[in-house]
Amino acid sequence: MSAKTVFPAELGGSVNVPGDKSISQRVAMLASLAEGASKVIGYLNGEDARSTLSAMEQMGAKAEFKDDALYITGVAGELQQPEEPLNMGNSGTGTRLLAGIVAGCGIEAAMVGDDSLSSRPMGRIRHPLELMGASIGLSGKRGTLPMMIAGGNLKGIGYLLPMASAQVKSCVLLAGLFAEGKTTVIEPRPTRDHTEKLFQALDIPIQINGLEISIEGYGQKGPRFQAREFVVPGDFSSAAFWIVAVAARPGAELLIENVGLNPRRTALLDVIKRMGADIEITVTEEKGDPYGTIKVRGGKLTGTVIEGDEIPNLIDELPILAVAGALAEGATDIRDAAELRVKESDRIAEMVKNLELFGVSVEEKEDGMIVTGPANLKTPAAVIDSHGDHRIAMSVAVLNSFSDGAITIENVDCVDTSYPEFWAHMEQLGGKVEG
Ligand code: S3P
Repeated sequence: MSAKTVFPAELGGSVNVPGDKSISQRVAMLASLAEGASKVIGYLNGEDARSTLSAMEQMGAKAEFKDDALYITGVAGELQQPEEPLNMGNSGTGTRLLAGIVAGCGIEAAMVGDDSLSSRPMGRIRHPLELMGASIGLSGKRGTLPMMIAGGNLKGIGYLLPMASAQVKSCVLLAGLFAEGKTTVIEPRPTRDHTEKLFQALDIPIQINGLEISIEGYGQKGPRFQAREFVVPGDFSSAAFWIVAVAARPGAELLIENVGLNPRRTALLDVIKRMGADIEITVTEEKGDPYGTIKVRGGKLTGTVIEGDEIPNLIDELPILAVAGALAEGATDIRDAAELRVKESDRIAEMVKNLELFGVSVEEKEDGMIVTGPANLKTPAAVIDSHGDHRIAMSVAVLNSFSDGAITIENVDCVDTSYPEFWAHMEQLGGKVEG
């Protein structure tokens, strides 16, 4: 098990973050279904994106990294039945979205994952997939992996999502591509729309009417589409760590280029502006999934309320926003975020515990937390365990850059799932990291 020791430091400068994890995995799946070889620029070279790609290779796609790009040769709609279980590693997105495709195209496959993934709820995809006619076995203790999928001959459904989840929405839409008839999903709140944008880029007809999204199924053979070039922008969720690290430091500056600016992902920018930081955004590409440049000038932050429709659009940023809350004047109140309890770890419990170790005043709520700052941060004597959650490890590392001593974070291999360059980038921005 690996560990890193992080020292206090002033962070600032310029950095480019690796490819978006959500988009990379969706591209891996769709390029694998296409006819011909797709070139993918900016594919995330992280473990989650690799697990998804390997699963597609087990079902007949070919993938090769060459000259800084990834080339995926698709199966033209004919996925092969995998001989071994698909090992999805730590990837919830890979598992839930791919389950929709596997169920749709009528092959049988088993899916397994690491300890964290094996504790995450999969009943949320079993329910709609079974309504469509698939048979989904979950042999974990509480509706968890391992999962056995046997599908085919699916029927389109109308499905009101019980929670705001882009993964469940995408699973149903992907299964719906292979169903007979129309599939409609209705979201309780808007969530990230990368799947919809990729369908549009591939000319797969999709109707979007507010929170209601429909596609006409192609039947079990699925849609036929040609390979193409995909550009994956930098991951806003990775950029978020540096945005907060600089936003909370009066006088500090940060420049990030080629970073995803999909409005369903960037609610952290609205929050951090509300808290007092100066943010300048330049969109360089508007079509498809937009991207561009973010400049941050740090300031004295004040607390805010984060709730409602904002939550799904910053769901992965809440651990680092809790750090921003600890550095801000007054209360930062995070509500409506119970989904955080079923992420790679229980992120409410983990962040509350970690903030308390640093001497931050924090109150745990069922669906969030209230963090009151500004804290006089004290580096805890104890070692911190990430509990296998990449975003907890990175949030604690950024928090400690504001502290008064060195801290060791254990179990940091998980950072490689989304951001293998994180520690090197921390040093590039002026941080000191050992281990
Ligand atoms: C993701 C959606 C979100 C997010 C996850 C990636 C996606 O999960 O937390 O990191 O790629 O669709 P939910 O849709 O389950 O909220």
